[in-house]
Parts: sequence; structure tokens; C-alpha cells
Amino acid sequence: MSTDDIDALVHAQCVLLGAYPSPLRYKRFPKSCCTSLNEVICHGIPDSTVLCEGDIVNVDITVYYRGHHADLNETWLIGEVDVNSKLLVETTYQCLQEAIKIVKPGTMYREVGNVITRLATHHGLSVVRAYCGHGIGKLFHCAPNVPHYAKNKAIGVMKPGHVFTIEPMINLGTWKDVLWPDEWTSVTADGKRSAQFEHTLLVTESGCEVLTQRTQGTYVDRFV
Ligand code: MF3
Ligand code: CO
Ligand code: CO
Repeated sequence: MSTDDIDALVHAQCVLLGAYPSPLRYKRFPKSCCTSLNEVICHGIPDSTVLCEGDIVNVDITVYYRGHHADLNETWLIGEVDVNSKLLVETTYQCLQEAIKIVKPGTMYREVGNVITRLATHHGLSVVRAYCGHGIGKLFHCAPNVPHYAKNKAIGVMKPGHVFTIEPMINLGTWKDVLWPDEWTSVTADGKRSAQFEHTLLVTESGCEVLTQRTQGTYVDRFV
């Protein structure tokens, strides 16, 4: 299938469920979701590119439903992928899981990047600096800013009721990114692969609730 086929499925399902696909026409973004293939870090625009055996592809979906946005993404392995790509995708998944574990009242937003970077560098991987997690709710992107890299200077402390995303982008090579002339597609500067996972989180009195968690019947057992 092509990434346009994915976009068509996402668009149709949103409409069927009474949701609006938040990316569509957001700051001139032309499609209903982002599809980021191989060396694309994020914000890939669905097109006629056909997925091939060995590719990795991230699908990032945001919906606007009853007045609020929710944002998540996952990276998928297309058939059999090489061992480095598998390590990349599995580690990126674990980076998000480790970060979610520290989300509770009193944690500083700047701590998220330390947890993610510790695990990524342990596996010889790098952390993208140009794109961050973000507050979300009535707006698609708002405060707080949530960097995924270590020793960042993010402002603020988590409190019950805060809603924000964590969405680490992890690379096999350099952390540096380049923006395509389409002004959306972000790729790695060295052309090596990048993976990402994202959830929308609500801080509760005792920890957090993963608002974008798969519900019963739709859960796919990934790496755990
Ligand atoms: N969903 C992306 C994020 O995680 C934002 C995509 S903006 C779009 O923040 F316009 F490209 F859709
Ligand atoms: Co997001
Ligand atoms: Co997203």
C-alpha cells in the first residue's frame, strides 16, 4: 500500500467516528495524518510512495473530538527489517514507556529528556532536538514544551490536570535534522533511519493516565 492509502483510511475512520483529523489544513498541512518513512524524522506528508519489505514507517494521528485534540503515533516494521532498524524501533518504544513511568505530580518537565536520553545513548542511538512534546487540549499545540534530550531547560512542574504529549524521535546516526522544501518533512541529516512513538498523557493525583492507550479489542502486542 502507499502512504496515501494510509491517509485515506485515517480520514475515513475519523469521519465515521465523528472526529476531525486535526492535521488537515493545520498550518497548510495538506493531509489527514503524518506518515514518516525510514530517514523521515516526523511530519512526512502522505503521497504515492509504496511501502516496501524492510521499511519502517511512523503513522502519527491526531483527532479533534468533542472540542479536544488527542495525539499519538507508532512506528511499524514492514515485513522483515534489518537488525539495526529493529533495535531502533524497540528502543524508541521503550524510551516512551520509561518516560511515562516518571509522569506524576511534582516531576519537572525537564526530567523527561534525561530518562529518554539515558536509554537511547545506552544503545548507541541519538535523540532529535528540533521537535518536542507539547501541551494539548482545546489547542493542538500549547504549553508546556517537553524536550526529549538531556540537560534541557524546560519550564514547569507536572500537576494533576495537565495534559501533554511525549513523543521521542530517536535516530541510528546523527541527531541533526534537515527540513525539506515542502516546509514539513523533517529528515535526518545523514540519511540514517529514525523512529518515534507518541502518547497523550493526563497527570492524575497518583501518576498519569495514557489518554491515547489502545482500548480493549484494539490492543496489539508489540515488544512487551
Ligand atoms: N502530530 C504531530 C505532533 O505530534 C503534529 C503534526 S502537525 C501536522 O505534534 F500538521 F503535520 F499534522
Ligand atoms: Co504531538
Ligand atoms: Co503527533
